[in-house]
Amino acid sequence: MSTIRTAETSSRLRCIVCGATPGSAGQDFRCTTCGDLLEFFFPGWTSNQDPPAFDPAALKSLWLNRRTSLDALDQSGVWRFRELLPHIPNPEEHVITLGEGNTPLYRLPRCARATGVKNLRAKHQGMNPTASFKDTGMTVAASSAHQGGFRWVACASTGNTSASMAAYAARGNMRSLVLIPDGKISWGKLSQSLDYGALTCQLRTDFDGCVRILNELVRQKPVYLLNSVNPYRIEGQKTAAIELMEQLAWEPPDHIIVPGGNLGNSSAIGKALLEMRELKLISRLPKLSIIQAHGANPFYRSVREFGGKKLEPMTADTLATAIRIGNPASWKKALRVLQATGGEVEEVTEVEIAAAKAEIGADGIGCEPASAVTLAGLKKLRRSGFVKSGEAVVLILTGHLLKDPDFTIKFHRGDLFAGTSDAAEAAQTKHLQRVPLVLDANLGAVIAALDAAERNSE
Ligand code: F0G
Repeated sequence: MSTIRTAETSSRLRCIVCGATPGSAGQDFRCTTCGDLLEFFFPGWTSNQDPPAFDPAALKSLWLNRRTSLDALDQSGVWRFRELLPHIPNPEEHVITLGEGNTPLYRLPRCARATGVKNLRAKHQGMNPTASFKDTGMTVAASSAHQGGFRWVACASTGNTSASMAAYAARGNMRSLVLIPDGKISWGKLSQSLDYGALTCQLRTDFDGCVRILNELVRQKPVYLLNSVNPYRIEGQKTAAIELMEQLAWEPPDHIIVPGGNLGNSSAIGKALLEMRELKLISRLPKLSIIQAHGANPFYRSVREFGGKKLEPMTADTLATAIRIGNPASWKKALRVLQATGGEVEEVTEVEIAAAKAEIGADGIGCEPASAVTLAGLKKLRRSGFVKSGEAVVLILTGHLLKDPDFTIKFHRGDLFAGTSDAAEAAQTKHLQRVPLVLDANLGAVIAALDAAERNSE
């Protein structure tokens, strides 16, 4: 078997716009020359290199063998793929892991019938330790903070990043500062950062306002920024795509569909796809499509109205609070992978999101509203002909249903859109609602309910 070289010395930072390659990053992880975002690149990975950086077959079998290892790094669904990540010196001392990754890939038979896409699956990133995809990036970026000797880490968040950061900071004996919009995040997410011991500040602004304050803060205080402008986050989040390809026996699907908020996740998945093709781990690229809520659609508008030439920030509003973002930091990275993979961008309404969430639920898979934009988007991409019935599609579900039970309960009770301008459209989702019944405590009442349900079942 060929030997596997480690990535130890081979990752470098590069500005995505001006190409500058700084030796290290500043507190705000922005290019000191032009102010844009930095990314990691791996100089030894060009496809025409002789000998190639890795033997793809050897790498695949190494990763597979690690699944039976008892080593904590090998058991992590992120660090198992460490050859494709930046190196953290002294990993036994600095890597903070909660056994993230290793998330399931499910078939969605009912959703497949409803969309006419037979080969439809969902990779459930909500099955991570803090119940969202953020953990895969957080383990890498929090470890880098630990390695850098930081006492404080911080993020602005719509709730999932903060929950994840607070957990990883606690595990690594670091303090964490959370900036979240007051009143616009779910209780489930807020409760996580409280329990994990974060200093939690609810600012009277939206997510974009929290980001502005955080950017100022990191220039004045020695806190380590853990938003997805931090390129270590992106590297860790790549592993969702690597793990997905392994689960598909390295046979890429035709389409991968992701929600778009701050656009770090789509950038990460796209980066992984491009790198895997470069390294000959896969032979072709799936099309990566990005779906936004209509009320928080700056990227959709950037692509559709301005051909990706500029992005106009907006005041965002959607019940899918995780993606209530009007000025996405990573839009240029996302644009690049959208174009490189030939993906599409779509927007979906509030009612379409709620209906899609209940449809995914009816397949026995719970997700939070932001994740459900993927199925709602798939329906639109089917109608436009971009996705064909015979193609293989994977939806990336980003957060767990229990992150935002309020949304779910209101939907099933018929309260979610009551009194709003969406009420008429929402009437068409009545067949998806499962209203809880309050009954007297007698057997007859329960049997009557059972019989009525049987008569009404499809
Ligand atoms: N889905 C969920 C459940 C999220 O929490 C987020 C982002 C996204 C999708 C969008 O991912 O930002 O990488 O495009 N949540 C961030 C947070 C912003 O603070 O938790 P993205």
